[in-house]
Amino acid sequence: MSLTVETLARLRTDAGAALLADAAARIDDDPVRTTAALRAAHSPELVAAALTTVRLRQRAATRLGPMADRMFFTPDGAEQVTRTAVAAHRAARFSGVQRIVDLCCGIGGDLLGFAAAGIAVDAIDADPLTAAVAAANASALGFDGLVSVRCTDALTVDLGGVPAAFCDPARRSGGRRTVDPESYLPPYSYVLELLARVSFAGAKVAPGLDHALIPAEVEAEWVSDRGVLVELSLYSRDLATTTRRATVLPAGASLTGDGEPAPVGPIGDWLYDPDPAVVRAHLVGELASSLGAAVVDPHIAYLTGPRVPTPFAKAYQIQDVVPFSLKKLRSALRTREIGRLTILKRGSAVDVEQLRRDLRLRGPNEAALALTRIAQRPVALICSALD
Ligand SMILES: C[S@@+](CC[C@H](N)C(=O)[O-])C[C@H]1O[C@@H](n2cnc3c(N)ncnc32)[C@H](O)[C@@H]1O
Repeated sequence: MSLTVETLARLRTDAGAALLADAAARIDDDPVRTTAALRAAHSPELVAAALTTVRLRQRAATRLGPMADRMFFTPDGAEQVTRTAVAAHRAARFSGVQRIVDLCCGIGGDLLGFAAAGIAVDAIDADPLTAAVAAANASALGFDGLVSVRCTDALTVDLGGVPAAFCDPARRSGGRRTVDPESYLPPYSYVLELLARVSFAGAKVAPGLDHALIPAEVEAEWVSDRGVLVELSLYSRDLATTTRRATVLPAGASLTGDGEPAPVGPIGDWLYDPDPAVVRAHLVGELASSLGAAVVDPHIAYLTGPRVPTPFAKAYQIQDVVPFSLKKLRSALRTREIGRLTILKRGSAVDVEQLRRDLRLRGPNEAALALTRIAQRPVALICSALD
């Protein structure tokens, strides 16, 4: 059983903190013995809530870092929480803002980012337990004076009197991700109204959102963290400084532009595999310009060109280009004594794991293999392994 408002309140007492510490110390022991030992002094509901909290803290640590150890979670809240690095980046986008309304605060990933940047937060969540968890997290991290949390429906907030706001609608229902943005809670139409009416407004939406649904005056920022595309943020006119932006964290580097077409060129010395934020933002053309590179095919996002260090792509030195054939590839990799191979693909339907088995790799060397198509023909680029 996970947390309730009641068990949360008890876990926040000194006795609750001692129980959590005990549960954390025993979490890897035999579960039956651990539960029995903890139940000697506490009710089954409280023990269950403590054990769930410890497990969710462990799971959230990759997204939230060490602060996860002081936080409380609902299972849904832990799934939806914004990563610390992304929340900090977002808070920086609101620099100069003194106070913000977080209209769908969840368990508080974003509000903690705002508070850590010194921005006062009026947070709202429609779910009573989630709101209570957000308040507990603000308190646990020392932001009592800066954060207030209310349980209410964002749709009842008069946007007319709000100078700065952020909204991260729920995008799950029944454990599934919602694809239709109008099924977000609150719906995408509400996000658009927020961006139009509030001067300093931001929203987090799914990175797969159709570009056609983004108003022209809004800045769209696709964000990746450690190579994983994590979100699309939208910013109102007063916060917008460009139309499209790809930001890669933790580097904190941004590529901006309108989506210029990339030139097509012959295969050069280096292959660039652009970061997913660059690809989703449709900024491969801008990346090509910055690198003096070109795409290998007008429909494929691999770039080729000279070696230029960039945070926006992984770069591989090209050793050989062969038409795709299992026999030829196996022989080329055998000759090079390649035992470890990173396989990348764009525009190829090849089953990578099946190919890996079929290649029967052997040898002390390492390489990368990029499968793609050029002018409709399947091609394999044998490259040096990533540094
Ligand atoms: C994606 S989560 C927010 C996650 C949060 N940004 C974080 O980093 O922890 C969305 C939240 O919106 C809340 N929500 C959904 N509809 C709402 C509404 N109409 N008013 C207020 N909150 C709402 C849900 O309860 C959920 O906690």
